[in-house]
Parts: sequence; C-alpha cells; structure tokens
Amino acid sequence: MIRPRRSVLYMPASNPKAIEKARGLDCDAIILDLEDAVAPEAKETARAQAAEAVRSGGFGRREVIVRVNGLETPWGEADLAAVLEAGADAVLVPKVNDAGDVARYDGRLGRAPERTRLWVMIETCRCLFHLEGIAAAARTSRLSAFVMGTNDLAKEMGARQTPGREPFLGALGLSVAAARAHGLVILDGVYNGIDDAEGFERICRQGLDFGFDGKTLIHPNQIETCNRVFTPAAEEVAFARAVIAAFAQPENAGKGAIRVEGRMAERLHLAQAEKLVAVAQALGV
Ligand code: COA
Ligand code: MG
Repeated sequence: MIRPRRSVLYMPASNPKAIEKARGLDCDAIILDLEDAVAPEAKETARAQAAEAVRSGGFGRREVIVRVNGLETPWGEADLAAVLEAGADAVLVPKVNDAGDVARYDGRLGRAPERTRLWVMIETCRCLFHLEGIAAAARTSRLSAFVMGTNDLAKEMGARQTPGREPFLGALGLSVAAARAHGLVILDGVYNGIDDAEGFERICRQGLDFGFDGKTLIHPNQIETCNRVFTPAAEEVAFARAVIAAFAQPENAGKGAIRVEGRMAERLHLAQAEKLVAVAQALGV
C-alpha cells in the first residue's frame, strides 16, 4: 500500500489551537512537536497535550507523529514513554548521529504498539558521514523514514539558507540515496518564509526533483501548494501510461529500449512509470 506523505505539518504540541485546527487541514500527516518549537517551560504541558491528542484521535486519514526531545536532554525519556503509551503512528527523534543512536531509540520503543514506527531527523554534521549505516538500521529496527532538518543543519554547518540551497545540495542528494538504498520514506526540510509563496513553491519543486516523497511544513498556508507539487501531474501520468501501454504491445515484447512519444523508454523507465501510476492511483488522480 502506498501511503501519501506529500505534506507533513509540524505544530508545537504546546499550542492546543493548532492541534485542533490540524484535525481539519488537508495535510497528509502532522507532527506534534515537543522539541525545537517548544520552550523549556512548556515541555511538560506539551507532552501531556500531545499524548492526549494522540489518544483522542479525530485526525481522520492523517498520520500522527510526535517529535520528542533527544535522550541527552532532561525530557527525552519521559517524552518517549508518553508517546509509546499513547500509540502514535511514529515517533520522530532528533539529532541522531549514527546507527548506534537508532538502536538506542529503537530499544526504548520495545513496548510500543507494533504499528508505531521510528522516524529520524537528518540534521547533524556527523550523521552525514553515517547515512548508509543509519538507513541500513531499518533492517533491524522500526526505522521507516528520514526527515531533513535543514534549520539545524544550517546552524551546525554555519551555512546560509540561500534560495537555491547550494550549501545543502550534497546532504540532500546523499540522504535521498541512503533512504532509497534501504527502502525508507524521505521528507524534505521546512521553508521558513511563511509569507513567501513564490519561494516556497520553488523549493517544493526542488524537493520533488531530488526525489523526496514530500515536504515538512510549518504553516497551514503551505499545504495546498505542497500537495499540488507532490501530486503527479496529469501529463506525467499520461506519459507513464503510454510507456506501460507501449511495452505491453506484442511487437515490443523482446525489446529493451523503444520510442514513446519522441522519447527513449527503457525497461527501467517502465518500472518508474508503474510506480508513478501507483502513486497517482493512491492519490485518486
Ligand atoms: N499548525 C496548525 N495550525 C497552525 C500552524 C501550524 N503549524 N501555524 C499556524 N496555525 C494556525 C494558527 O493557530 C492560526 O489559527 P486561527 O486562525 O484559528 O487563529 C492560523 O493558523 C494562522 O496563523 P498565523 O497567525 O499566520 O501564525 P502565527 O504568526 O501565529 O505563527 C508560527 C507563526 C511560525 C509561530 C506558527 O506557524 C508555528 O508555530 N509553526 C510551526 C512551528 C513548528 O512546529 N516548528 C517545528 C519544526 S521546524
Ligand atoms: Mg532540529
């Protein structure tokens, strides 16, 4: 089953109004944040509100993920305990550096319901040199997704968030490759310019080009554009169907490469076309 994760909206779990609003928003998933978006004084309240929100539900088709504080902080253990008890779809953990960190968090989820997955933030300089090992930990843990943390990465690198994201191109591409090598979902980082619709759409398209499944968001006004960009376009789906139909022709049965609408299509493109059509069908396109 293909689960859409085009638009994944963060909200501070300390903000009950935002949580209530999320129950009616058109995003594919929500992340109740206990970490960066919550001030130290509000950590306990946020934890209780996140657990209560997960327990009471009402989010419909949307997946519900809770981002916890790291185990190196005073709140990490209690956050994890609260989330696994409440039974979120996934727990998102910050600042992992290597496969050992994945194992450590996974160990804490021992008593969580089977369906609760482990998602990790890719946001430290050190983790960039262990991406393969981190992704490979999916074989022996609940790990199922990478989420780019471009704000923390910028902070650690001392990099500027330029319009074309040049300082992060290496990290973005390698993270996608590591995720794909091990069958993980991967989501792009957030765009801080809440009122910059044009810049946001450009960065969404860049994420799509990179191969991300979707993007993490910080404001409801980013959802519609994000869904549109990460939904396969009608022309793309039509071309994919043409590739599938062409390879199904008896005269093409023994061929590896053919011409479809003026372009070369190989059997690798057939596999890509089948995947695209499956995604489009899952989205009802
Ligand atoms: N999720 C759900 N609802 C949200 C929201 C979010 N991330 N951000 C804003 N809203 C709601 C507001 O509650 C408000 O609802 P109302 O009209 O019913 O009052 C409405 O959308 C408009 O909000 P607005 O006034 O434009 O936002 P703001 O200026 O108050 O807040 C932020 C701006 C950035 C503080 C806020 O959007 C936010 O907290 N974003 C998420 C931050 C986060 O989780 N970061 C962690 C990962 S990087
Ligand atoms: Mg972070």
